[in-house]
Amino acid sequence: MTYKYLKLTLSDDILVKEGISLTSGEYMKTDSEVKHDVAKIRNEVFKYGDDIIRSDRFQKAKHVRHHIQYTVAQHSVEVAMYALLITRWLKHYKIGRKINEEDMVRAALLHDIGMTNDEVHDSPSYKKAFSHPLEGLRIARDEFHLNPIQLNAIKRHMWPIGIVPPSHLIGWILTTADNLSSLNEGLAMAKGKIRKAREKRSRGRG
Ligand SMILES: [Fe+2]
Ligand SMILES: [Fe+2]
Repeated sequence: MTYKYLKLTLSDDILVKEGISLTSGEYMKTDSEVKHDVAKIRNEVFKYGDDIIRSDRFQKAKHVRHHIQYTVAQHSVEVAMYALLITRWLKHYKIGRKINEEDMVRAALLHDIGMTNDEVHDSPSYKKAFSHPLEGLRIARDEFHLNPIQLNAIKRHMWPIGIVPPSHLIGWILTTADNLSSLNEGLAMAKGKIRKAREKRSRGRG
C-alpha cells in the first residue's frame, strides 16, 4: 500500500503538469492506471540505460542477491524508477531543472554495481557497506565512463553510513530513491510474513 501510495503521490504531480486536472485527495487511481504509469516509467529507465542493462556486468547483477528478496539488478531498476519520478516531481516544483534525466537514471542503475565483485559481496555486512560504493565507483568509471557528478553520487550513496554526504542534487535523489526501495522491500517482506502467519493460524483452527 505504501509502495502504491508513493507512486500515486509522485506521479499525480506529473499528470497535473501534463494538463490532467487533479486535486490532491479528490482522485484515486485504479490499479490498471497505476500499472500503466509504472510501465511507462520502467520503459523510460530501459531506454536511458539500455546499454547498461544489456552489459555483461549488469547481467551478472541479475544473479547477485541484494538484501534478502531482490537481486542487485531488480533493486537497481527500482531505484532508477524512483529516482526518475523524484526528479520529475522536483522539476514540477522548479527545483533541479538542470538535472539530466539520463544521467540520473544511469547513476541509479549502477549505484550498487560494486556488489557484483565477488570479494565485496562475500565480505561481512559492515565492510560491504563501505566497500561496495568504492568498487561501484571504479566499475562505473572504467566500464561505463560516467561523468564526475554521477560518480560522486555512486561513491556517496550510502550516506549517512558513508559519513561524507553527496555533493550534488543527483546524489541526494539517488540516496532518497535507494532508501525508498529498501523500505519497499522491507514492507513486502513484512507483508509476506504476516500473510504466512495468518495462513498458519487459520490452518491451526481448521
Ligand atoms: Fe548501496
Ligand atoms: Fe542500493
